[in-house]
Amino acid sequence: MTKGKVDALLGIVFGDEGKGKVVDVFTPRYDVVARFAGGPNAGHTIIFEGKKFVLRSIPSGIFDEGKLNIIGNGCVIAPDLFAAEAHELEAAGYDLKSRLHISKRAHLILPTHRVLDRAYEAAKGKNKVGTTGKGIGPTYSEKASRTGLRVGDILDNFQEKYNALKARHMQILSDMHYTDFDITEEEKLWMEGVEYLRQFPLTDTEIEINRALEAGKNVLAEGAQGTMLDIDHGTYPFVSSSSTVCGGVCTGLGVAPNRIGEVFGIFKAYSTRVGAGPFPVELFDETGDLIREVGHEYGAVTGRNRRCGWLDLVALKYAIMLNGVTQLIMMKSDVLDGFDTIRVCTAYEKDGVQTTDMPYDTEGWKAVYEDLPGWKTDLTQMTSEQQFPLQLRDYISYIEKETATPITIVSVGPDRAQTIMR
Ligand code: GDP
Ligand code: IMO
Ligand code: MG
Repeated sequence: MTKGKVDALLGIVFGDEGKGKVVDVFTPRYDVVARFAGGPNAGHTIIFEGKKFVLRSIPSGIFDEGKLNIIGNGCVIAPDLFAAEAHELEAAGYDLKSRLHISKRAHLILPTHRVLDRAYEAAKGKNKVGTTGKGIGPTYSEKASRTGLRVGDILDNFQEKYNALKARHMQILSDMHYTDFDITEEEKLWMEGVEYLRQFPLTDTEIEINRALEAGKNVLAEGAQGTMLDIDHGTYPFVSSSSTVCGGVCTGLGVAPNRIGEVFGIFKAYSTRVGAGPFPVELFDETGDLIREVGHEYGAVTGRNRRCGWLDLVALKYAIMLNGVTQLIMMKSDVLDGFDTIRVCTAYEKDGVQTTDMPYDTEGWKAVYEDLPGWKTDLTQMTSEQQFPLQLRDYISYIEKETATPITIVSVGPDRAQTIMR
């Protein structure tokens, strides 16, 4: 990491790659950790010293008491969920109020945005996206249509603005004949969340971050979701609603492109996806079930089964290109410990045609595989690369060669300590 720069740590596939774990490991090297996109659709797991936390809106740098954490302008925030998340950290002994700054420009997720999320999903029927139900799509839609409410709005005449937006939502829901819901209790908690939010520094975070950079400090931008869920470059319409790619760091924090330093692209040694949408490497057999079981591939936010498959080099190369990834981080290598053969998808095929470029319409493509030998060794206790079995070294070299990008970290277990720097 270089002083005066923003390094980005980005999920480069379908999310849940282990971003939270690595941000927590990296935090001691940085002055500021900032989230630039997404909201409580994220679930970032951090495990250390026998404790486990799942963060949704709060950056994963929060466990290092000396560091400033920022929720940037590109994020969306649900005050009730934010309060619940923050209370859990406070109960565990972490003081947040002085070192968690929130952008006044971040948009608010209203309880009725969550109802709209459910209503739009229900209206899509079998074409539903399989959202996390956190109101993400409706909130970002309203940001784009210039009708949303921002964190800064809570500082002035808020109840009136809230009532007006809620009334608009109720009208849409009534027009859709979606009336079977009751937000009375939720709304009460939400308003309490707004009061709690007022206790935090609500700032112009883009100015703060740029001042820090000018002073020679360094910033880690923590991605949420993954490149294949990006609103522009993912498997649209089966995507989230924000810019999850490196360009999103610039817009979501207010930093110029020439401030970006290293771009860490994080991926699992295999593939997963939650929710609907094309997934050419998906396994419907016992191998897929085994990966899910060994990798505990159940959603951190919704508890849903994650769909599982082998590593997808088509997606990986596409994401490396879009993000300008300078270093790769391979997670959950230990999950493949028991396999005789490890497959890697090198191309997609449809109607006898093969491609290694991500197609516009990823529906209907089948994965073409290359087989590599498994290492059949327990990696979880390893502490240095020197202990790695030959087949794992070959797997790493193979990916590095195919992607022309170095893998600088290999993760061999969920704990902070199970992280091997190369
Ligand atoms: P994020 O959304 O990218 O932060 O990732 P999630 O927290 O949603 O999902 C990653 C899951 O894998 C969490 O349950 C982590 O505790 C776990 N995990 C992270 N790294 C490793 C690893 O190297 N090995 C294993 N077995 N689990 C890991
Ligand atoms: P982290 O940051 C994995 C998926 C949802 C759904 C689609 C749209 O933990 O990696 P949304 O609620 O955003 O409108 O849902 O995106 N999705 C994620 N999948 N990890 C995430 O975040 C995700 N956030 C959203 O499952 O398919
Ligand atoms: Mg997650």
